[in-house]
Amino acid sequence: MKILVLGSGAREHAIILALRAEEADHELFAAPGNAGIAQDATVVSLDANDPASVTSYALEYGIDLVVVGPEAPLIAGVADRLRESGVPVFGPGKAAAALEGSKAFAKRIMDAAGVPTGRAVRAGSVTEVTAALDEFGAPYVVKADGLAAGKGVIVTSDRDEAVAHAEAYLPSGPVLIEEFLAGPEVSLFFLADGDTVRPLSPAQDFKRAGDGDEGPNTGGMGAYSPLPWLAEQFGSEAAFVDEVTERIALPVIRELDRNGTPFIGLLYAGLILTEDGIKVIEFNARFGDPETQVVLPRLVTPLSELLLAAAVGTLEDEPCPEFSDAKAVTVVLASEGYPTNPVTGREIHGLASAAEVPGVHIAHAATSDQGALVATGGRVLNVVATGDTFTAARDAAYAAIERIELAGSHYRHDIAARVATD
Ligand code: AMP
Ligand code: GLY
Repeated sequence: MKILVLGSGAREHAIILALRAEEADHELFAAPGNAGIAQDATVVSLDANDPASVTSYALEYGIDLVVVGPEAPLIAGVADRLRESGVPVFGPGKAAAALEGSKAFAKRIMDAAGVPTGRAVRAGSVTEVTAALDEFGAPYVVKADGLAAGKGVIVTSDRDEAVAHAEAYLPSGPVLIEEFLAGPEVSLFFLADGDTVRPLSPAQDFKRAGDGDEGPNTGGMGAYSPLPWLAEQFGSEAAFVDEVTERIALPVIRELDRNGTPFIGLLYAGLILTEDGIKVIEFNARFGDPETQVVLPRLVTPLSELLLAAAVGTLEDEPCPEFSDAKAVTVVLASEGYPTNPVTGREIHGLASAAEVPGVHIAHAATSDQGALVATGGRVLNVVATGDTFTAARDAAYAAIERIELAGSHYRHDIAARVATD
């Protein structure tokens, strides 16, 4: 197949590596890509957020499937235009992508579908904000309604900080004040074709910048998959996945279909396992980053077949995606100053040596080849390791990351530490 992947991060690199790993010899294209992606796909210069450019490229070059990585092209209507032009595309239209783009829309769909989530109040003024904060009590959860590049949510016990966060976003519209939910978080991805879903394997993301979940929220500093502790709580990972499928993913997909906004693409359920059961923290309309980097290396079923079946509405005919027993861990190498003020433009060295550690591969997140390899963003590289045990995978990932040189860079030291008991 000729497959075009839109996006430029480690998630897109992971998708491309999974497509490369298939027996089928695909022709892979990426826009805009990065220096790592350029080693595994043909990078094409085109504006991934422009529906007209992407569609004319896909038609001109006979692309069989477009896979949309990040949310921005979805919100810009790239998938709508491709679908109208008859190009199979894995990614929801603009209206369904509002499940990620608008937290208020997501809450409405969840309410209508009877899906368990935290209680939330929309507040349009400081008076409404303080009233809602006092009603819920500390810790306070304040969320901007629209896309805010991972910076829209604050969880804090400091009431003044919660009010200040709300005040920063109020000029652009109401904010959500939400009930605080306590418990471990799980990311579970579903392929969806408008009315059927197929689950992938669960993963856990590490959102805070520092060890021990200290510091500010980030896009994600590491991840691992599978989650062995789910079996203790639910009997098996499959039982957990079934429960989320029946109680959360299918009701939401059906509600979106009833709403006239069918969801075709990746439904990312961000879940929290509270004492009162599984609740949804958020939905995203695309693969998670960095969770994809640990889920896809374990996928045994050819990814292209699943993505195409979702795109053309034949997921029902596909078997459930199968996963290996391998344990996968990824650690993100971030630039100095990330997430507040990342320093970019510095050279990266030692990648070849890092990739020589057995079981390790590198997914590029923000790199550019300028003679030397240079960091171009906050999250720069994902060191991914697979092994028979979490201890083996973790040791390999950390041995590899230590071989990489990027001045001022930092990474978390406790990714998957909890499960590395084997
Ligand atoms: P979101 O962008 O909605 O995924 O929120 C980012 C992070 O904030 C989540 O991964 C959680 O760690 C935390 N968070 C969001 N909502 C809540 C909540 N209601 N209770 C506790 N933590 C939350
Ligand atoms: N890892 C969090 C996200 O992709 O939104």
